[in-house]
Amino acid sequence: MKKRDLLSIADLLPKEIQGLLNRAIAMKMGAQSQCLAGKSVAMLFEKQSLRTRVSFDVAVHQLGGHAIYLGREEVGLGNREGVSDVGRVLSRYVDAIIARTYSHQTLVDLASYATIPVVNALSDAEHPCQALGDLLTIQEHLPSGRLKGVSVAFIGDGNNVASSLALGAAAVGANFVIASPPGYELPEHIAKQSHALARTPGAVIRQVRDPKEAARHADVVYTDVWVSMGQESQGDQRRRDFQGYQVTPELMALASPKAVFMHPLPAHRGEEVAEGMLGHRQSVVFDQAENRLHIQKAVLEFLMDGQKG
Ligand code: CP
Ligand code: NVA
Repeated sequence: MKKRDLLSIADLLPKEIQGLLNRAIAMKMGAQSQCLAGKSVAMLFEKQSLRTRVSFDVAVHQLGGHAIYLGREEVGLGNREGVSDVGRVLSRYVDAIIARTYSHQTLVDLASYATIPVVNALSDAEHPCQALGDLLTIQEHLPSGRLKGVSVAFIGDGNNVASSLALGAAAVGANFVIASPPGYELPEHIAKQSHALARTPGAVIRQVRDPKEAARHADVVYTDVWVSMGQESQGDQRRRDFQGYQVTPELMALASPKAVFMHPLPAHRGEEVAEGMLGHRQSVVFDQAENRLHIQKAVLEFLMDGQKG
């Protein structure tokens, strides 16, 4: 059987996404799995991380496996040793690779040389595990308990987190609107892919300028940092360009009364979020952080199951 990677959330069929969400809910309620018993997983991280690193390490442990953390300094990916050889060598020792890279191409190359599943733990293009955890959080918190027809408003940068969320929302039939300043829209290929995915379930994907237009009547108001890891040199320019795109209690008040506020964290208070937003009564940001653990256990089990046979 051909190995499966998770580099983009679009690598999963809509029914596979729903299956992962259902399995994550069961695991959150106590369902056990030892699918990684006797197996090892390499965690190759070029960038800093709190949630992804810890939740994957704990996920591997709870599934009976062993995680090996490899930071930038340890491996020297693409520097001490080329990505192709790292992929081939790791495949001889471990059963899966979880990788956080600057360039998405590094992940693509790693996956093409590795003979074991490679999971995107964030690249400059996508953050699929975040989006899966977010869909789980949305499903849990919304009164209908259904993702189809839900309206997600993303305020800010059309970045890795926004891209995966747009694709994931489209796949499950949730409407997605992003309000961003000129030059910070979703990448064209992601917008196109989201529109294509949204067609079957009949969801609407929109790009607007005005945060208020996006937030009005939304079920979810979502934001992320204005300066992602690797963009530090553009920090001042970005902070200027995103003026007016902060999520505040006033913006939140335009959303549906039962709407939730979401952020993948880490957050920059005073930039993309007003002071107090994370503790807002409609904020679910810490549930979001927790759900990374449950969904990633489901993802690892799914990819390991694909290795059988
Ligand atoms: N949300 C998220 O991926 O957090 P970390 O960068 O801390 O892993
Ligand atoms: N967009 C952010 C997300 C961090 C979890 C970044 O890439 O730094």
